[in-house]
Amino acid sequence: MRKPIIAGNWKLHKTASEAVELVKALQRQAGPVDDAEIIVAPVFTALATVAAALEGSSIRLAAQNCYPEKTGAFTGEVSPFLLKDIGCSHVIIGHSERRQIFKEEDAFINRKLKAVLAEGLSPILCIGETLEEREAGRMFEVLSVQTKIGLDEIAASDMEKVVIAYEPVWAIGTGKTATNEQAQEAHAFIRGLLRETFGADISEKVRILYGGSVKPDNVDGLMAQPDVDGALVGGASLKAEDFGRIISFRRP
Ligand code: 13P
Repeated sequence: MRKPIIAGNWKLHKTASEAVELVKALQRQAGPVDDAEIIVAPVFTALATVAAALEGSSIRLAAQNCYPEKTGAFTGEVSPFLLKDIGCSHVIIGHSERRQIFKEEDAFINRKLKAVLAEGLSPILCIGETLEEREAGRMFEVLSVQTKIGLDEIAASDMEKVVIAYEPVWAIGTGKTATNEQAQEAHAFIRGLLRETFGADISEKVRILYGGSVKPDNVDGLMAQPDVDGALVGGASLKAEDFGRIISFRRP
């Protein structure tokens, strides 16, 4: 059985002190959780204070991005080495906002993924098609390219650390969630790709999260799908009450 992951991507929101308030409210709201892994991903400037607030808690810390070199003349960048140093266990890689706004390509995302693994951290690799690609019948092709290049040259032994997030771009921040069936179809396809490359055993172990307008009122149906192993939540993760309810998906 794959242990579910519920991750909150706070994007460009919250000052350091607001982020600590949010995580404390979340701890009060959710109580101790042992049947799912809970992750929060604040902005870089709030990571250290949130890490301190989370000491002794089972909630894990993720960064939203990184640069694939350890140290050096890379002004303005942050490396997995530094993220590990301040207590991150996960790094979100290849979010569609980075692909679209910052023009990140699959080969660069693959370098980041390798750099994250090299530090012993877990990458959360985001993939997903745009509405235009879906309507042109290219969804499977897009998911296949993003998965294959994103995971190029990754050892099977590292795959248990890798988390994949299927985030259809048309569902992000739009309130237009994929249906349970659409999510399951894409997740089963992605697991099939993992099976082809890494074998059945590994493909059954990798957690595939769904992201895109996950809310308290749709999380139960999504989580009931056999290949949906968790959620990557944007907007609803900024409210402790909503995120707390999403975390309790099996205890409504
Ligand atoms: P929303 O939940 O706000 O649609 O954002 C999803 C997302 O991009 C998570 O990474």
